Amino acid sequence: MEPFRFHLFVCTQQKPEGVPSCSANGSSAVLEALEREIRTLDLDNDVQLTTCGCMGLCDEGPVMVVCPAGVWYRRVHPSDVSEIIASHMRDGKPVERLVWNDAAAMKAMSTEHLVKFRTVMAARDKAGMMPDRIDEMIKGFMPSRCILTALELDIFTAVGEGASADQIGTRIGANARGAGMLLNALVALGLLQKKDDVYSNTPESARFFVRGSKDNQRDGLLHSANIWHRWSTMTEAVRRGTRVPIDRGGTPEWTNDFISGMQRHAKDRAPLVVKALGTEGVHSVLDLGGGSGAYSIAFAKASPDVRCEILDVPEVVPLTAEYVAKAGVSSQIELRAGDMLRDDLGSGHDIIMLNAICHMFSPEQNQGIFRRACQALAPNGRLVVQDFILNPDKTGPQQAALFSLNMLVATSAGASYSEVEYTRWMKDAGFTDVFRINMPGPSDLIVGKVKRAN
Ligand SMILES: C[S@@+](CC[C@H](N)C(=O)[O-])C[C@H]1O[C@@H](n2cnc3c(N)ncnc32)[C@H](O)[C@@H]1O
Ligand code: FES
Repeated sequence: MEPFRFHLFVCTQQKPEGVPSCSANGSSAVLEALEREIRTLDLDNDVQLTTCGCMGLCDEGPVMVVCPAGVWYRRVHPSDVSEIIASHMRDGKPVERLVWNDAAAMKAMSTEHLVKFRTVMAARDKAGMMPDRIDEMIKGFMPSRCILTALELDIFTAVGEGASADQIGTRIGANARGAGMLLNALVALGLLQKKDDVYSNTPESARFFVRGSKDNQRDGLLHSANIWHRWSTMTEAVRRGTRVPIDRGGTPEWTNDFISGMQRHAKDRAPLVVKALGTEGVHSVLDLGGGSGAYSIAFAKASPDVRCEILDVPEVVPLTAEYVAKAGVSSQIELRAGDMLRDDLGSGHDIIMLNAICHMFSPEQNQGIFRRACQALAPNGRLVVQDFILNPDKTGPQQAALFSLNMLVATSAGASYSEVEYTRWMKDAGFTDVFRINMPGPSDLIVGKVKRAN
């Protein structure tokens, strides 16, 4: 059975240097061209495009196979793609000059390649060479640093409708040599284009990185640039077991970038979280550390019966107020400046939310909040923790384990925690029913229900 007229498998396998592969032969450009042509000819409903690993025919790459008929193409060049899509996918006629149908030769090549590959790998191993994957992890900071510096210098805005390195350097107050090198690296990373010494933004850069564009995310992304400085202190933070004070943060710009960064992630997740929790019987929501207010806004929009209170620190509340006003739900949302670790949490709430909060605090601080939240909930009320949840042995998922280090460098006692820990803390605090709701993306919900008589 084949749910599509054609299913195209395109090999994009990468191999160690010196070993032939489809990626070394330009499979990513072929893939891009395929996606473009399928869209252009409006064949999305007929053609399913899937990337795949090595099919053993690497010397002849880029290789692709069209199922269900099993038509093999080899040495595909981006300039061949429009012909393949039009002739084969639209008109049903394979492009014979690129088709490879010598099964015996293909089988022989695949066997030969396997032997060659194993020999190269054994030689690398014998020579004491480190696997490429480790090298890639070690150098992984390089592209990240290029983008963050470009955002800090606001290069994408300075590029405007197109400019030379000298012009851009002048606009951002940077040395022309340095600006030129960074601009070229951004072209290499696919974030800028260059023609006749004139740089221009790609559609994505123009959309997401240029100040003033509708979907501009620069402020929120600058939060990652701020995090970078904290991560640079990790060696010392590990030695000390807590964050190292650095001379950054706490300024109004820092706070604005931080809340924009939170909003970037929260605005799309919030409606999903509200849907997972439901609004039936929910009248009062307390949103502790509500940040941009995304979750309260989503609750308010989901039901006119819901009233929310957002408690956040005094520096953040004015920013929260702007987001809430912009969403047009100010009449349903009250704002309070305070400290969730000390201030009264009120009473009779149907839901108390801790979205991306618990990782900032120590186990003892979280247990304190949970105990006070339990008292502040109405009968059958729910405490909702949304966070990265670690496995019981804390070695994964990867994002949760890495985020724990983010809290080591950024807070005095925060960390990612496991479901076992959250469950124990909630039960100790008086919650009778504790369960997990898995969400799309890296963080999940742990919900504690309090069953108390009225
Ligand atoms: C990681 S952000 C999460 C924001 C929001 N809940 C979300 O998921 O988008 C943490 C928020 O908690 C606030 N916060 C930190 N410590 C606090 C405290 N002691 N009392 C109240 N709010 C606090 C921060 O200002 C920030 O808005
Ligand atoms: S790398 Fe593509 S077939 Fe081997």
